Amino acid sequence: MYYEVNFRFLEINGGSLNWVKFFLQFKMVLGLSVVAIIIYNIFKFLYHLFFGKVEKDLSGYEEGWYGKGSKPKEGADDTSIHPFKISIPDEILLDLKERLQRARYEPSLEDSKFEYGFNSDYLKSVIEYWGKEYNWRKQEEQLNKFSHFKTRIEGIDVHFVHVKPNIPEGRQLKRLPLLAVHGWPGSFYEFYKMIPFLTTPNPEQDFVFEVICPSIPGYGFSSSPCKKGFDARAASRLFLTLMERLGHDHFYVQGGDWGSLIVTILGKYYPSRIIGVHVNMYSSGPKSWDIFKAVAIAYFPSLVSPAEYKGLFPFWERFKTILQESGYFHIQATKPDTIGSGLADSPVGLAAYILEKFSTWTNLKNRLSENGNLTENFTLDELLTNVMIYWVNNNITSSVRFYKENGLNRTHEK
Ligand SMILES: *[C@@H]1O[C@H](CO)[C@@H](O)[C@H](O)[C@H]1NC(C)=O
Ligand SMILES: *[C@@H]1O[C@H](CO)[C@@H](O)[C@H](O)[C@H]1NC(C)=O
Ligand SMILES: *[C@@H]1O[C@H](CO)[C@@H](O)[C@H](O)[C@H]1NC(C)=O
Ligand SMILES: *[C@@H]1O[C@H](CO)[C@@H](O)[C@H](O)[C@H]1NC(C)=O
Repeated sequence: MYYEVNFRFLEINGGSLNWVKFFLQFKMVLGLSVVAIIIYNIFKFLYHLFFGKVEKDLSGYEEGWYGKGSKPKEGADDTSIHPFKISIPDEILLDLKERLQRARYEPSLEDSKFEYGFNSDYLKSVIEYWGKEYNWRKQEEQLNKFSHFKTRIEGIDVHFVHVKPNIPEGRQLKRLPLLAVHGWPGSFYEFYKMIPFLTTPNPEQDFVFEVICPSIPGYGFSSSPCKKGFDARAASRLFLTLMERLGHDHFYVQGGDWGSLIVTILGKYYPSRIIGVHVNMYSSGPKSWDIFKAVAIAYFPSLVSPAEYKGLFPFWERFKTILQESGYFHIQATKPDTIGSGLADSPVGLAAYILEKFSTWTNLKNRLSENGNLTENFTLDELLTNVMIYWVNNNITSSVRFYKENGLNRTHEK
């Protein structure tokens, strides 16, 4: 069972783990942390009172340059917007087919499902489908049903899908520009099913959306940053420029995963430009004050609703799940090029790496299913098209570098 993980580092005092003792120690650690934080905050308060003015973070306001070599002279860069059509050369598809035929598998352990990662028996059938039945040209046609464009910003060719609403003659509708930003391991393709709902006029509404879905630089059909330091702050600045170029000085934003960070930053740094922020993932680091709440709740569970309590306790269970599911984050935030070089060279590895997330992140229980319940919520075609967007562009390494660039930087939470 996947829960029976042996965390040896917790074998306190050499003995076997005593849960009661562990929880008592956990509470003691929390208590000591509270004291430390109080002392820290008193010192910080006094320091600012006597010596400091609060520093304002202005970093990242200036334009950067992420293209090859040095920045061209002012005005020398091409800032036009040109149409783009996805059309992958035959040789890339042929090369992929050959690689898929030469795939090598390690049989999965008897009775194992998805607890060890992507089950390789099931992987074999996914890869067979990919090599024999999956039809990229058909998918490409699907992808091209919306208009694609590219434009160069800060040395990067930014790719985006741009869908304007089809307003029937005689109807007066407000057009609301909406920037929608994807995450990892997704792509602009995330929005394909949603776009028609947003761009088709609804008889009961006096507005309709004009949707712009860019590829984050380093992802999909946008070019990859050639220089260090391209983070969510830089991506948000690029997308602001993109929207300006499209004539939208004011717009709505939507984001999930990295997209949620990018659009939240847009809202924070350019409040006068962003009319509304919508996210389908929200993350916030605990404030130092929250440790008081955690301690209080640990002792008095009735302070919160049972559902809220379950979100945090038993603390060890919650923490264990985070450990089990965040290994990818750690390696991508520390050694992206190492993990990237394997995935860039093997479509089988790439598919396993990306699709495992689609299984587990849909539902943790899917780890107990032989096929990760992968096709309960997606078709294999949809899943593989998303993998293809990484493969045909050779962009997995640059996509995981985004973790290194952002890491655990909490600057933007202020
Ligand atoms: C965090 O991000 C800001 C803005 O992008 C950057 O200036 C700063 O150096 C980053 N901090 C760390 C520790 O990387
Ligand atoms: C990522 O994809 C873009 C668009 O196809 C391409 O310009 C860029 O070179 C790719 N990055 C790498 C590292 O190959
Ligand atoms: C997922 O897989 C498990 C185990 O194979 C099965 O019991 C369950 O019905 C599947 N579907 C969902 C939606 O969980
Ligand atoms: C996935 O599919 C199952 C079965 O159709 C459904 O019960 C479940 O709500 C879906 N999950 C998500 C996240 O859409």
